[in-house]
Amino acid sequence: METNDRVYTIIQSLDTRSAESVTQALNAAKALRDLTTDEKLSLTRSLSEVFFHVHHTGSTSMPKLAVLIEKLIGKFGPEMIPFLFQEILKADTETAVDFGKSLARNGVVGLEFILSKLDDYRERDHDLINLIQVLSLFKIPEAAKAIPAILAAAQHNNHQVTAMGLYSVGRLVQKLRPTAFSEELRLKMFDAVFRFLSNPQGLVRKNAARALGKMLRKGLLSKENEQKLYKTFLAIAGRDEHHNWDRAFIVRREAEDFLPYFCQSSLHIRQYSQSYKILSKRLLCPNTYHFTIDAPLIAKKIEGGQFLIIRPHILSERIPLSVCGWDRKNGSVNIVVSAVGKTTTQINAMEKGDFFEDVVGPLGERSILPTSIGTCVVIGGGYGTGAIIPTARDMKALGNKVIGIVGARNQESLIMIPELTQACDEVMITTNDGSSGLQGFVTDALKLVLDREKVIYVLAVGPVPMMKAVSEMTRSLKINTYVSLNAIMVDGTGMCGACRVTVGGETKFACFHGPDFDGHKVDFENLTKRQKMFARQEQMAFANMNV
Ligand SMILES: Cc1cc2nc3c(=O)[nH]c(=O)nc-3n(C[C@H](O)[C@H](O)[C@H](O)COP(=O)(O)OP(=O)(O)OC[C@H]3O[C@@H](n4cnc5c(N)ncnc54)[C@H](O)[C@@H]3O)c2cc1C
Ligand code: FES
Repeated sequence: METNDRVYTIIQSLDTRSAESVTQALNAAKALRDLTTDEKLSLTRSLSEVFFHVHHTGSTSMPKLAVLIEKLIGKFGPEMIPFLFQEILKADTETAVDFGKSLARNGVVGLEFILSKLDDYRERDHDLINLIQVLSLFKIPEAAKAIPAILAAAQHNNHQVTAMGLYSVGRLVQKLRPTAFSEELRLKMFDAVFRFLSNPQGLVRKNAARALGKMLRKGLLSKENEQKLYKTFLAIAGRDEHHNWDRAFIVRREAEDFLPYFCQSSLHIRQYSQSYKILSKRLLCPNTYHFTIDAPLIAKKIEGGQFLIIRPHILSERIPLSVCGWDRKNGSVNIVVSAVGKTTTQINAMEKGDFFEDVVGPLGERSILPTSIGTCVVIGGGYGTGAIIPTARDMKALGNKVIGIVGARNQESLIMIPELTQACDEVMITTNDGSSGLQGFVTDALKLVLDREKVIYVLAVGPVPMMKAVSEMTRSLKINTYVSLNAIMVDGTGMCGACRVTVGGETKFACFHGPDFDGHKVDFENLTKRQKMFARQEQMAFANMNV
């Protein structure tokens, strides 16, 4: 068989989406000897298509095959570098790693090739991100020399480039032996990375904190820099005397995680243990409970309108829940949980004395308060009745007249009326069946208030149709109206994009820019559609659950 024919045969029968076909092609390719450059290139071109599929198939064997392909291509030698380089530029960030690993197997030659090109891509953000990432894949000691180039590239007006630069520095620090870093490089690295801790972007600060933490753990810091970093991490975590922590949870988490690695003699940390123990549990109405949780750090900072993300058990989903009160002195926070699906049911099955796996917060911005003094209306439905209480209290403390309106299906579903009554000057109840208060909806009570007095501010928290109806009612009267958007959330820190909402024609992240937004600008249709995105999976999870 002609040399080109033997490769052609392999390529012809290759289906890069089938694990079986890829295995056969790989074995056949491995068996070939004395491959020409053209043959290597043809095989590389075909086999590497697997890299593009591997992250998007549910197959468990494909990732393993991708590693074998990456090794094989790596063994083809430096002749493949220009091709791999071009693929890295074309690829998405995940796939670029697969091509990058093959390239990195060429050691110093591969490293110098990328470094020689870096400047040419300074203005091409996507390409630069991929190249910087690939530099972090080299395992040779010489890779430490790439760090100054990475840090220079990280001085960029696109924060994603900067974040990737710092991420890559962290990876190299972790991967390489301490001897790969000269004294001079260690000092320069520290100074350069430390400056990024004051960057306005949370992701940049997070990656900077992580890279510095890894330097600390690797023993790369001078005593002086270790002290400096220790004080800074204490401040970021809110554990110094000023208690002004970094507002991004992801940054605080990095600082917290690395604090135990500082030299023991320099540790003077005031310990706050956050056990997330359930201190009390009280039934409010069928399927809805009030919990008090031990969380002193959160209790110290939480404000009305902010929320927590709670994972009840290690294997549970993490769900967002508003805070309806707190005790700063005793270090506890209160939540109301209505069981609507798997995780809320799991939470409501927990008892006093149980511990939540983790509780993250405070998340989101506090509710916006009125800027002048007058009559304010807070409207709650479902768990929202609890969530409006802290803001109602704040508004009253500012000198406003606060009217609370609560809506429920019937008298049995009403919750937290005594607490709301304490926070407001007046509370109006509406029930759909008329079993308590006014028969009808919260908008009926709101209309009564609007007919009788001038209202300067409305806050509504509850089901989407209720928030929409309230916003429609106040729109023509131009009353400042805020609603708390209960979009589906995953990380709750603005990183994943799950909670995308449209407000005033712009995309916002409910967890980070909100959860409260101007009700007159919210695209409620889009919110409703996105809330139903996982309806089938949610039903299946609920049907298959064991509490
Ligand atoms: C900022 C915010 C504050 C909230 N505060 C409270 C509260 O104080 N008390 C309370 O009982 N509920 C609150 N929720 C809603 C609560 O997060 C959801 O009911 C919960 O996530 C549902 O999870 P599940 O597994 O029990 O039900 P699932 O079966 O997963 O979902 C049931 C319903 O909840 C919605 N939902 C599912 N996952 C999420 C998610 N990760 N984030 C938001 N909504 C989701 C879905 O649209 C679905 O309609 C809040 C939501 C947000 C965004
Ligand atoms: S929940 Fe991930 S960005 Fe808001």
